[in-house]
Amino acid sequence: MTEHATPRVLPLLQQRPGGLPAPKAAFLDGSRMTACGLLSDGRGRSLRDLRISVTDRCNFRCSYCMPKEIFDHTHPYLAHADLLSFEEITRIAGVFVSHGVQKIRLTGGEPLLRKDIERLIEQLSTLRTTEDRPLDLTLTTNGSLLARKARALKAAGLQRVTVSLDGLDDAVFRSMNDVNFPVRDVLGGIDAAHAAGLGPIKINMVVKRGVNDQQILPMVRRFKGSPMVLRFIEYMDVGVTNGWRMDEVVPSQQVLETIQSQFALVKLAPRTPGETAQRWGFANTQGEHDAQAGEIGLISSVTQAFCGTCNRARLSTEGRLFLCLFAEQGWDLRSLVRAGASDADLASVIGHIWSGRTDRYSELRGTTSAHGAPGVRRVEMSYIGG
Ligand code: GTP
Ligand code: 5AD
Ligand code: SF4
Ligand code: SF4
Repeated sequence: MTEHATPRVLPLLQQRPGGLPAPKAAFLDGSRMTACGLLSDGRGRSLRDLRISVTDRCNFRCSYCMPKEIFDHTHPYLAHADLLSFEEITRIAGVFVSHGVQKIRLTGGEPLLRKDIERLIEQLSTLRTTEDRPLDLTLTTNGSLLARKARALKAAGLQRVTVSLDGLDDAVFRSMNDVNFPVRDVLGGIDAAHAAGLGPIKINMVVKRGVNDQQILPMVRRFKGSPMVLRFIEYMDVGVTNGWRMDEVVPSQQVLETIQSQFALVKLAPRTPGETAQRWGFANTQGEHDAQAGEIGLISSVTQAFCGTCNRARLSTEGRLFLCLFAEQGWDLRSLVRAGASDADLASVIGHIWSGRTDRYSELRGTTSAHGAPGVRRVEMSYIGG
């Protein structure tokens, strides 16, 4: 074994310890919980958004998410038998929906790498909210396969997509994705998604100081006046492999000032409760929102944590339920499903787990309470999804 092989592999093995077993109380007659669409956690937060990771693989190696030196051919990706099948995902998702989930986002890794993803979308699109409405069914992608797949995704029932794009300068973008992928092809994917009717499309740009902060204004100019909503994301300390440093974070306030130096903006109200982004609209000469010019979003989870309204649960590729992007362990739902649990059992388990949730990592960041058990590592973004 080479000298550096051990530290490279070990943390990633530790990142997937055995999943937490279902809470026993969920099966006791006196404390069984049924789904009534109104689940509330230990801080009064509802469950509204389920993010499902369908693969831990990606064809990009963004330095802030899957640094190449760590995510190389020695990385222990999940084996096929460990992945939830589409039927298992749909069944678990259905139970979440009965508890009040209204939005499902498919993530990865890169979700379009999962074989036959359209089949999963077809199944999920049949689910109805507790108010008997279709779900908000969406997907986050790096856009590399979108030109090829957009029409099939739409036909399968996907409503919209969010595309990650960290800059327009080809050299900057190629070095950020670290696989030399050209900007042109992602832009082609966005156009294809638009033509297929997968809107409103959101464009997510993670801003890293000294790396792509020069791309803020070119990106604003490119998407202003288009139906796409560009959102700037503060670089986060998610996972343990990206070598995050606070001085590489560009606070949203600074992004806002940069944009306001060139464009007049007006603050817009949130569209949905618990929205991650603060919305700003381009203003007309009267200082009102010019809807034709569109809007931008700022996602400030480092400098202005939004845990207080966090309504998101995350289901990993292998069927673990994580209650926070920064969690270290997830609850093992796959074992329950494979052991023959009924939907009512699953509903009771999920109800108990959500009711006991107190997570608020971003609010605690930098304090001793943010640290978990010694030796246990936070999961990676490529495992749990963005
Ligand atoms: P829309 O419904 O389209 O507005 O989606 P969204 O904003 O809920 O989801 P999206 O996946 O586009 O989120 C954008 C980015 O915000 C993610 O890639 C993360 O970087 C960050 N983010 C999303 N959810 C959370 C969260 O719960 N906590 C933290 N800290 N960051 C989050
Ligand atoms: N900080 C902020 N956002 C991240 N993403 C991945 N890693 C990070 C990070 N360290 C998000 C980006 C990307 C999505 C897939 O995950 O928004 O678009
Ligand atoms: Fe892949 Fe998205 Fe992570 Fe980049 S941010 S490595 S595209 S999963
Ligand atoms: Fe929710 Fe955790 Fe993000 Fe806070 S840090 S908003 S609790 S996922």
